[in-house]
Amino acid sequence: MSSLLFYAILLLFANAASLAKAKIHYHDFVIQATPVKRLCNTHSTITVNGQFPGPTLEVNNGDSLVVKVVNRAQYNVTIHWHGVRQMRTAWADGPEFITQCPIRPGGSYTYRFTIQGQEGTLWWHAHSSWLRATVYGALVIHPKEGTAYPFPKPKRQTPILLGEWWDANPIDVIRQATRTGAAPNASDAYTINGQPGDLYKCSNQDTTIVHVDSGETNLLRVINSGLNQQLFFSVANHKFTVVGADASYVKPFTTSVLMLGPGQTTDVLITANQPPARYYMAARAYASAQGAPFDNTTTTAILEYKAAPCPAKGVKINPAFPSLPAFNDTATATAFTSSFRSARKVQVPTEIDEDLFFTVGLGLNNCPAGASSSSCQGPNGTRFTASMNNVSFVLPSNFSLLQAHHQGIPGVFSTDFPSSPPVKFDYTGNVSRTLWQPLSATKVYKLSYGARVQIVLQGTSIVTAENHPIHLHGYDFYILAEGFGNFNPQTDTSKFNLVDPPLRNTASVPVNGWSVIRFVADNPGIWLMHCHLDVHITWGLAMAFLVENGVTELEAVEEPPVDLPVC
Ligand code: C2O
Repeated sequence: MSSLLFYAILLLFANAASLAKAKIHYHDFVIQATPVKRLCNTHSTITVNGQFPGPTLEVNNGDSLVVKVVNRAQYNVTIHWHGVRQMRTAWADGPEFITQCPIRPGGSYTYRFTIQGQEGTLWWHAHSSWLRATVYGALVIHPKEGTAYPFPKPKRQTPILLGEWWDANPIDVIRQATRTGAAPNASDAYTINGQPGDLYKCSNQDTTIVHVDSGETNLLRVINSGLNQQLFFSVANHKFTVVGADASYVKPFTTSVLMLGPGQTTDVLITANQPPARYYMAARAYASAQGAPFDNTTTTAILEYKAAPCPAKGVKINPAFPSLPAFNDTATATAFTSSFRSARKVQVPTEIDEDLFFTVGLGLNNCPAGASSSSCQGPNGTRFTASMNNVSFVLPSNFSLLQAHHQGIPGVFSTDFPSSPPVKFDYTGNVSRTLWQPLSATKVYKLSYGARVQIVLQGTSIVTAENHPIHLHGYDFYILAEGFGNFNPQTDTSKFNLVDPPLRNTASVPVNGWSVIRFVADNPGIWLMHCHLDVHITWGLAMAFLVENGVTELEAVEEPPVDLPVC
């Protein structure tokens, strides 16, 4: 083809792309109790539209979503669009008591927002108590209309939602733990697209099957929608090419195992280049906390080639099983999380206006005077707690933080969240018991519009060190580096990747280690940052940023929707 003709065609395509209309997608989400049978028992499970997992939403980058949520359940609920930047639309973010009051039983609220500049896989989930155990689903973002994937277009695309299932009502599980001060029970099963798979009782009739044709390359959109557990994920005899994470493209790399913390997504290409047959895909725990009880079961689904021979009558052929890392295989987890690079060179802020250092970890509160021992069932008669910079986050109850901020209502929060820990100590060493009890408060950290922010997220070894998936609402951030031990500003800054660091919304802070993230505060509002292990957020491992409005209207939070729920 002559180069002139080539450019003419290119121009044509470019024009078509810019003319392509962004769409508005309307959905109704009815939150309702639904009978769901798992592990031999039928439960009254809170679902969206009776579906478990909930509906997959598919959009193109640039489209808008309008989702009317009607609450027909007996619990308060909100829906969070995990990873969606929500530029100027903080009212639609969803964490209860942060950007809205919960939707009460019988109430409704319509979330309106636009997806801008994000492509890949995100997801949505309830952000109220432990409802997200069953109220969650995928949010698939295709390239802008008229533009292509930065890899050959996959034949098929399949969301793979990894979840956690409790035999008990998850709300009761966390309510009991809050009452007793003890750790909540671990889950009874993991699931892939809602199904535990062949290794659990009463489950093998309903195992998830993913069909492929020989020779095809398909896209798996893997999401850890579990509550409290990082998970390894593998497919027998197949390798993955990782192409995206948290709705940003990455430099492709191959691996045979993924590790995702709750909240994280990973897009992988998988080529059906094996003899036609059935192969297991499987997920099980990456359990980094020493000695803490966890669900050590394994969930499976089946990758089935269409040409797989039918077994002769009465003959049972077991699909090949993938090898999964050991539960405590931190080396494999680290090799994976440190392989990510942005697909392109990126604009990392090099000057820093806000140099922040946040400790993240657990704690134990002594039994309050006069409390009964039944409410102090943590280790040695204590109650579990957790904190950032020694502040254990407390949700307000009369107003959302955003409402209080927007309307200038005093007394709901204070703006003195510390920029560094009030006491410096050997964070990953043997920490004195006097430093185990944080302060409980509702504190936010104020950022001026456009501030360039760096945060060192420093894990602590208080009670038990573990990997914490730290999620920031309203933003994607660059992960510049991660490491073990205490962050050392003298030596560790030389490890910063300022060229092509990955852009993510959830960082896996290594067990007994640290991660360094950067972002520009260009989205005004109140944005929660928290550990995405739900038990830790319950204990207070959270804080919020108050990002001030800029000067122009386009740099300010929109007015609240008229149907915003009040407390
Ligand atoms: Cu995926 Cu604050 O949540």
